[in-house]
Amino acid sequence: MRKKIVAANWKMNMTQAESAAFIKSLLLEIGDMADVEVVIIPPFTAITKVTESLGKSQNIKVGAQNMHWERSGPFTGEISAALLRDLFVRYVVLGHSERRALFCETDEIVNRKVRAAHEATLRPIVCIGETLEQRDKGNVEKILSIQLRSSLADLNEKELQETVIAYEPVWAIGTGRNATPAQAQEAHAFIRATLREMSDDATADRIRIQYGGSVKPDNARALMSQPDIDGALVGGASLDPRSFARIVNAAREGHQL
Ligand code: PGA
Repeated sequence: MRKKIVAANWKMNMTQAESAAFIKSLLLEIGDMADVEVVIIPPFTAITKVTESLGKSQNIKVGAQNMHWERSGPFTGEISAALLRDLFVRYVVLGHSERRALFCETDEIVNRKVRAAHEATLRPIVCIGETLEQRDKGNVEKILSIQLRSSLADLNEKELQETVIAYEPVWAIGTGRNATPAQAQEAHAFIRATLREMSDDATADRIRIQYGGSVKPDNARALMSQPDIDGALVGGASLDPRSFARIVNAAREGHQL
């Protein structure tokens, strides 16, 4: 059985003081739960504050929102996997649609980053998803297949198993318009079938596929109780500890079903 993974993508929000206050409230709400993996993904500037605030909590991990593919060198303004590991970061979001759309990231760039992350034992959360135009034209499967195969090219089975996929339909991000549980499940089942073709049954069955795009406390449970939805990547609703805690608890209920 796949352990659900619920991640808070804070994007370009949260000062150090706000981050510390968030973690304090979150720990009061959910404690250090073991049945769901929780990942907090602050901006780079708040990573250390989040780690410090988590103290001895073993089951809440820290992630980063991006990284460069090179190990070190003259790349002003960039952060490497090794620098993230130095801050005890465990996960890194790669290929988020905002980075693809606003910072020209291609599948090839995402793939370089994914491989560099694995080399440094950082676990990538690789985002894929179609735009509304692509959905309306009936191209969802084509787009997902291209993004998956190119972003995850040249990974071995172990690396694939340690990769998290986030299916985030672009039209659902920050719009308040989430995919229905049936729409999301259909895409997730297609993603898992594609992973099966790219590797083998055992590997495809172990890879966790999160849904992202306007996940809120009141739709989280229905989404995460679908058979191929193994958690959530949460933007807007992750900025408030109570609403994020309710989403984590929805994943926990799914686990107990
Ligand atoms: P949202 O963002 O929950 O605000 O739609 C999700 C994401 O971008 O990961």
